[in-house]
Amino acid sequence: MKKKGFKKSYKNSLLYFHENYITHENTNHSGRMLDNIIMHDCEHPIMKEHAKICTENGGDILEVGFGMGISAGYIQSGSIKSHTIIENHFQIVDRARDWAADKPNVTIIEGDWRDIYKSGKLKQYDGIFLDPNDIIGSEQMFIDPPFNITKPGCILTFYNGINQSNVNMGYKINENPEVLKIPGTEFYPINWKQDTLFWGLHQGDIYFLPKKIF
Ligand SMILES: C[S@@+](CC[C@H](N)C(=O)[O-])C[C@H]1O[C@@H](n2cnc3c(N)ncnc32)[C@H](O)[C@@H]1O
Repeated sequence: MKKKGFKKSYKNSLLYFHENYITHENTNHSGRMLDNIIMHDCEHPIMKEHAKICTENGGDILEVGFGMGISAGYIQSGSIKSHTIIENHFQIVDRARDWAADKPNVTIIEGDWRDIYKSGKLKQYDGIFLDPNDIIGSEQMFIDPPFNITKPGCILTFYNGINQSNVNMGYKINENPEVLKIPGTEFYPINWKQDTLFWGLHQGDIYFLPKKIF
């Protein structure tokens, strides 16, 4: 069965910014099984770990997908030189720019991360965190890539969650989904549990954090 991106594309949808989550339909409830959720602050612990991994070298960091800016906040608190964020949603990119206004080491690039990659204009990074909703199938950018965006020793990490749609497609809860199959990637299990069950977010109580060193 063809595996699609983890979350439906909402690039052209109007988003709704709730107190602690973002949705692409105006479903203003905090109950269970919300499937149009884009990001929720209950994923803080996961974002913190991704940020820790991609900033281990310090230096120049590339982040794809601003969302609620949770991982961006953690990345900023690391000891880094520059922080480049690619974001393609018109509302979220505005929020990213507001957030970056007092952060001189941040560059916001608006657009689809694959297009920006293909433009060849990205530089080389010491750490990369990928968290867009269309990550599946992006291996080629890191295996025999047409453009090299990784400095020697660069650390790549990517969102490796499994949501209810993926469970319906045959993924198993608490098994490593390996959303990108890049040889040499190590996966570190961490315990994590949502206090509420949101179908659009990571399911299960284990999350496998990927780390690939180039
Ligand atoms: C799950 S959120 C990221 C959450 C973020 N890591 C945080 O801590 O809040 C995914 C983000 O990626 C953006 N996005 C999705 N597809 C994208 C694409 N093709 N290019 C650039 N950004 C994309 C979405 O608009 C959204 O802001």
